Amino acid sequence: MSDAKLSLLYSQERIASEVARLAAEINRDYADREILVVGILKGSFLFIADLVRQITVPVTIDFMRLASYGTETQSSGIVELRKDIELPVQGKDLLIIEDIVDSGLTLDTLYTKLMQRNPRSLKICTLLEKTCNREGSTKPDYVGISMESGFVVGYGLDFNEEYRQLASIYLLD
Ligand code: IMP
Ligand code: MG
Repeated sequence: MSDAKLSLLYSQERIASEVARLAAEINRDYADREILVVGILKGSFLFIADLVRQITVPVTIDFMRLASYGTETQSSGIVELRKDIELPVQGKDLLIIEDIVDSGLTLDTLYTKLMQRNPRSLKICTLLEKTCNREGSTKPDYVGISMESGFVVGYGLDFNEEYRQLASIYLLD
């Protein structure tokens, strides 16, 4: 266990209200459609679970796992595909679910890989976005909370695999 200090940033209640708002926007935008949710592991597992339970249009769910090399709190921009989705993508309305967009390079890689498979549409929903390190050009379509900087853990997000189980989001010192 690390002995890093955590301070509460976004409470369970705040997260729940953002999730409800995002689900309402998605339900409105995808009325009469069927969504193929592509959850990006591992960080978004709680967000996906909470969000899909509030989506009222038909949904299928698959998962992808990417890893970016770098230091503990900064990514290098080299993004490796560790696990691909198994469902066919062609002609489907894809919705990528991410935990957090930082440099945006993971998102660029994902977007390029999935667009090559000819989906009908491809949108991105992220719980958090950090604005200070943006390098990539892919923009999320649905954003829960926008923050400027800082490293956060909890609600699926980790630091060296710790803290994913916390119900709220904390700033790591
Ligand atoms: P990007 O490619 O720089 O946008 O990095 C995105 C990925 O880095 C996210 O999906 C997270 O897995 C991880 N990440 C970025 N910032 C944080 C953070 O503050 N806490 C935990 N993980 C983070
Ligand atoms: Mg992630």
